[in-house]
Amino acid sequence: MSDVNIESLVRKNIRNLAPYRSARDDFEKGLLLDANENSLGSPVRNTLDLHRYPTPTHDNLRKRIAVWRQVDYENVILGVGSDEPIDLLMRIFCEPGKDSIITTPPTYGMYKVAAGVNDVNIKEVLLTENFQLRPDEILKAADKQTKLLLLCSPNNPTANDLKRTDILKLVARFPGIVVVDEAYIDFSGQESMAPMVQQYPNLVVLQTFSKSFGLAGIRLGIAFSNPQIIHYMRNVKAPYNISKLTADLALKAFDNMDLVKFNIEKILEEREYVAGQLSQAPGVEKVYPSDANFLLFKIQNAKEIWRQLAEKEIIIRYRGHEPLCENCLRVTIGMPDENVRFLKTLKEIIS
Ligand SMILES: Cc1ncc(COP(=O)(O)O)c(C=O)c1O
Repeated sequence: MSDVNIESLVRKNIRNLAPYRSARDDFEKGLLLDANENSLGSPVRNTLDLHRYPTPTHDNLRKRIAVWRQVDYENVILGVGSDEPIDLLMRIFCEPGKDSIITTPPTYGMYKVAAGVNDVNIKEVLLTENFQLRPDEILKAADKQTKLLLLCSPNNPTANDLKRTDILKLVARFPGIVVVDEAYIDFSGQESMAPMVQQYPNLVVLQTFSKSFGLAGIRLGIAFSNPQIIHYMRNVKAPYNISKLTADLALKAFDNMDLVKFNIEKILEEREYVAGQLSQAPGVEKVYPSDANFLLFKIQNAKEIWRQLAEKEIIIRYRGHEPLCENCLRVTIGMPDENVRFLKTLKEIIS
């Protein structure tokens, strides 16, 4: 069990912050003349009282998410996508120009961008050839200034789950906060680590409505952690970060979980099909195992093939500039007809 003292990791200015108190923190009913809204209403007909600010905390949605992921709603905070919580965590824990984070490339590019925006140093400890963690090297790289370890499982762009035993070893021994980004967890055979935030005070698990729920457009992410970290995230976030429209859509999605599950199954079936076809295509040297809704594959002349696909308006991602990903392309699993079109065009380009 980690003996990390969360309070001592939080930046002093954040510990001492008097958070903004919004009008809707105190009252949601009554004659509401407190928030300088437009009481006459909006020009767009709606049933959500959109002329009023949303609640800062969205308790109903957080409670629904908590039941789904088997945590308490005090363990849940919502963000504008899961990119927002990544930025919040850096602002809470990392002193600009002084503190550092550890990432494990090849991994999701936003960690580096968020660190750059916040003037936070990055230490990079590469994954192994099999895209797994090197826990001992990560622990060696950590020092007093290293506040966050950002892990991504299933990992983007490599598509695989990180070994749970490695992650747990790091949660137990890393001297700071361990963030596990589970954006793709619903496509994996592994269970979410979200319930473990009740056991490990230095663990933060991130998820999103952008992938398995198919709601990238509403910009809704989730961070799970202990109430102490959630408290600081709430103090630092913009008071009304999640709109009523977004929260309403997310709640409606929970009424349609059969479709969410059906679509996940369909994507998994298609993933098998595309992986099988790709592995037989000439020039393809390797299709990496996937626990996500995309595939990483190695192909001769990857950059040129990517360019020719783009010319034919088939847009995938070139990842060959990432460490360990020479000549690699990443393709998202699409609709069945889209997958067929991608494969057919790729084969035409190669032959
Ligand atoms: C690993 C990972 N985390 C987070 C995100 C961002 O998710 P969101 O749309 O919730 O900001 C992505 C998006 O591609 C991702 O790949």
